[in-house]
Amino acid sequence: MSRAGSGKTAYVCSGCGASFPKWAGQCPECRSWNTLTESLTPAAPLRNPRFDGYAGEAGQNRVRVLSEISTEERSSAPTGIGELDRVLGGGLVPGSVVLIGGDPGIGKSTLLIQALTTLSGSLSALYVSGEESPEQISLRARRLGLPGDKLGLLAETCVERILALTRSDPPAVMVIDSIQTIYTEQLQSAPGSVAQVRESAAQLVRFAKQRGTIVFLVGHVTKEGALAGPRVLEHMVDTVLYFEGESGSQLRLVRTMKNRFGAVNELGVFAMTDRGLKEVSNPSAIFLSRHEQEVSGSIVLVTREGSRPLLVEVQALVDGSSLSNPRRITLGLEQNRLSMLLAVLHRHCGIAMFDQDVYVNVVGGVRITETAADLPVLLAALSSFRDRNIPRELVAFGEVGLAGEIRPVPNGQERLREAAKHGFRQAIVPKANKPKQGIDGLEVVAVDRLSEILDAF
Ligand code: TYD
Ligand code: MG
Repeated sequence: MSRAGSGKTAYVCSGCGASFPKWAGQCPECRSWNTLTESLTPAAPLRNPRFDGYAGEAGQNRVRVLSEISTEERSSAPTGIGELDRVLGGGLVPGSVVLIGGDPGIGKSTLLIQALTTLSGSLSALYVSGEESPEQISLRARRLGLPGDKLGLLAETCVERILALTRSDPPAVMVIDSIQTIYTEQLQSAPGSVAQVRESAAQLVRFAKQRGTIVFLVGHVTKEGALAGPRVLEHMVDTVLYFEGESGSQLRLVRTMKNRFGAVNELGVFAMTDRGLKEVSNPSAIFLSRHEQEVSGSIVLVTREGSRPLLVEVQALVDGSSLSNPRRITLGLEQNRLSMLLAVLHRHCGIAMFDQDVYVNVVGGVRITETAADLPVLLAALSSFRDRNIPRELVAFGEVGLAGEIRPVPNGQERLREAAKHGFRQAIVPKANKPKQGIDGLEVVAVDRLSEILDAF
């Protein structure tokens, strides 16, 4: 369906980039299969409409010096929800586009309606829903006890109509829930298809940059990221937040995957209650399952997610295997890393677990992405293997190298202080992380090689 001036559809091969007027199963150019996807070709290809917004008046663009560009109006405004501000890198920057991904039912709409009602006190805010009717949204807001006298609601799925309705009076913040339900009239494919999602999002991004509107895009994504939708958006938006955590538990973790205005890997912690999402401002306390007695195979580690240290319990179970290829199962950690650590343990300490299944779990559904978990994971596995308890007031962190050395991790001092704050008495850390001055109430054991730990164990 080509329209005057707006461009027409073409089928572009994702392998070789060739473009065709008709779809085919096989690309006539490069002969690869299933690579043709519908996309929009601009009517005037020399002018990329996507970037009109940065230039100001057409034809008046020029090269400017970095310091010449004023940035005052670009400072970020806090949302009023501390944990959300943390993952956003301090707050919302005008004209920025934030993608919030996560499994269905994990709390994306809840978080955004909470944030938006708070923001609507000081800014003009609009909630565009393609999934729920205005009645449903209003019902939810009322049940959560949120003020609704300032927030605009719109049930609409056509991106052209959304933009036409908001063009004359653009809101300061706009939520699109969800991007999979939005479609553009310029493409024929069904809403939710990659082409539709990409084209609609491109129009919204352009609108955000031109008008200075902050746009939140909600995207459903499976744990494996299998759904093509939101993943193709990651490079178009400024900030990507993902909901993590098990939907069975109350805990909801929001992680920054990309941020043009702040640090990545920042973690925001919420609890889902019957009154919506509540911030958890001292997350270390909730990831520790306090055992009545000392148990084997369990140890507390100090990880650092984003800019704050976090105490997390890691558990290991080592059990005789009946399989010729014993299991190496991890939850919240990388599986290959466990295999590597067990190899180091064998090669440098002579402890073999070839005939054992090894399971490792990070309590609370947290996913640990840094290497500081190496040493605690090995200690937990050893503890379970030997059936020796690890003292309850012991914490550990450190990277294990392939040569059997214990390598330092960043911000050791800060991690130790967090451990001391939560009442831990002993810490096993890499030698280079040993603080010069002692930390009150904490005995720090510095180790250089993996074999030294075995002697102590
Ligand atoms: P929702 O925000 O609709 O999820 P998403 O938009 O990511 O699909 O969250 C829905 C889930 O949250 C639903 O299973 C019920 C639960 N929930 C609560 O437990 N308490 C509440 O106050 C609300 C609003 C939802
Ligand atoms: Mg929703």
